[in-house]
Amino acid sequence: ADRAAFIAALPKAELHLHIEGSLEPEMMFALAQRNGVRLAFDSIEAIRAAYEFSNLQDFLDIYYQGMAVLRCEQDFYDLTAAYLARAAADNVRHVEIFFDPQGHTERGLAFADVVGGIARALADAGARGISSRLIMCFLRHLSEADAEATLDQALPHLHLIHGVGLDSSEVGHPPDKFARVFARARGLGLKIVAHAGEEGPPDYVWQALDVLGVDRIDHGNRALEDDALVQRIVADGLTLTVCPLSNLKLCVVKQLAAHPLRRMLAAGLKATVNSDDPAYFGGYVSANFIAVADALDLERDEIITLARNSFTGSFLSPAEQAPHL
Ligand code: ADE
Ligand code: ZN
Repeated sequence: ADRAAFIAALPKAELHLHIEGSLEPEMMFALAQRNGVRLAFDSIEAIRAAYEFSNLQDFLDIYYQGMAVLRCEQDFYDLTAAYLARAAADNVRHVEIFFDPQGHTERGLAFADVVGGIARALADAGARGISSRLIMCFLRHLSEADAEATLDQALPHLHLIHGVGLDSSEVGHPPDKFARVFARARGLGLKIVAHAGEEGPPDYVWQALDVLGVDRIDHGNRALEDDALVQRIVADGLTLTVCPLSNLKLCVVKQLAAHPLRRMLAAGLKATVNSDDPAYFGGYVSANFIAVADALDLERDEIITLARNSFTGSFLSPAEQAPHL
């Protein structure tokens, strides 16, 4: 309880959050009604009961189904505003949010409505003291040509978009499939991140570093299987955005007591704690901190390091980070 109160009060940044993964069943139900979208579930309880996953793909199948209730700019505003209210309640002072435009444009929505609704909510939160960055992810199960077309669509909105990422089904879709589109994004001045080593092998993390040139690694769990890779990530000073409850729900770890977070810190890796898709995995950022700290019996100084890493690993400038350190 003491540890939970300490964690709750600690100022934090969240660096790995898919905004579509913050869609709670209550809002899913309400938006389905508002938009006349038919859901495969007939109650909020039935939606929650369906959230049993044995791997990443199991989850993704439900995640893409759920986002179908998002139809217009106001829906993206409401979704983002609800997430930001929960983040503020957890003492989150800065957020770097992923969105999956291809999950919406392939359903006929306008790119401008998606990015516009999210950015409007982020701007409102900024006026209340929560800073933010927006990161556009490419869906790796789709083609590189599809990612290129998505980057084309983003060009008029680059003042709202700080970086690009890579998410969705990892195994079978290595980073080098997207070498050209990430090189173009880098040339446009965008930051680069990628999910790597969540289910995929250490080789995919090497590719994220050497082919994409990532500024940060999302997950990175399986990097620990390769000592030379760990040394490289430490040498480059790259941050890992680790997601404990996600790892548990997607069976990346069998139990939280076996989570590699402490081993990451001990190896000198700049790990952070994040919620990934909190509506699906059972908790926002403080719940993730508390669950993993309890399971691993983390020391207070380890918890402080994790919170500090969330600011130093962010895309805030040193001057913007300073008030949080
Ligand atoms: N999309 C949303 N959450 C994801 C995750 N944890 N891994 C890959 N793609 C995702
Ligand atoms: Zn993720």
